Amino acid sequence: VCAAVASDHPDRLRWNARYDSANRPDFAAHPLVSAAVAAGLPDGPVLELACGRSGSALALAAAERTVTAVDISDVALDALAAEASRRGLAHRVECVLADAPSYPIATDRYALVLATFYWDGDAFRAACAAVRPGGLLGWEALAAPAGGEDAGPFRVRHGELGSRLPAGFDILDEHQPDERSSRLLARRLS
Ligand SMILES: C[S@@+](CC[C@H](N)C(=O)[O-])C[C@H]1O[C@@H](n2cnc3c(N)ncnc32)[C@H](O)[C@@H]1O
Repeated sequence: VCAAVASDHPDRLRWNARYDSANRPDFAAHPLVSAAVAAGLPDGPVLELACGRSGSALALAAAERTVTAVDISDVALDALAAEASRRGLAHRVECVLADAPSYPIATDRYALVLATFYWDGDAFRAACAAVRPGGLLGWEALAAPAGGEDAGPFRVRHGELGSRLPAGFDILDEHQPDERSSRLLARRLS
């Protein structure tokens, strides 16, 4: 599925070049997937933003979830789609070529909205609204160095993810797996 991303979009060019020169991934699921399952996931589909060549999407599809996987790199999405087909999971993984912040995300729909090693404030806001009541938001973003005043455009301050949640979310876990990133798991209560 393609949601009209210009072929010269700077993020698309930059990430396609990175994926073109990258090694084959191990398709390991991000730890937020097992954390979300352990916390209890309601029924329903999953949305992953900036999925890349996502082992998380594959693991969730293998667990019989329907996954919408959004990324701006067609190179990454082709690799994900090929691996999903190889594993017999293509029917459960919908790959969407789109710019995450401007992609029209359905509200109140997903049992889990996931994004790892990606940050955009508009996409985060839309992701929160996309979680269905009782569902989970899992997000990990690169973090600014401790003591840094300005996180910069692609990074968050520690604690920023939780502080940006709208009312009606309960933080299940927010921590720094290491100095370089910040991880949040939260449940939408209402
Ligand atoms: C550091 S990678 C993380 C990939 C994957 N989530 C992971 O944890 O391995 C960042 C991802 O964000 C995607 N990305 C960058 N800008 C984007 C945008 N504007 N819209 C959607 N995806 C974007 C890149 O193509 C890339 O796959």
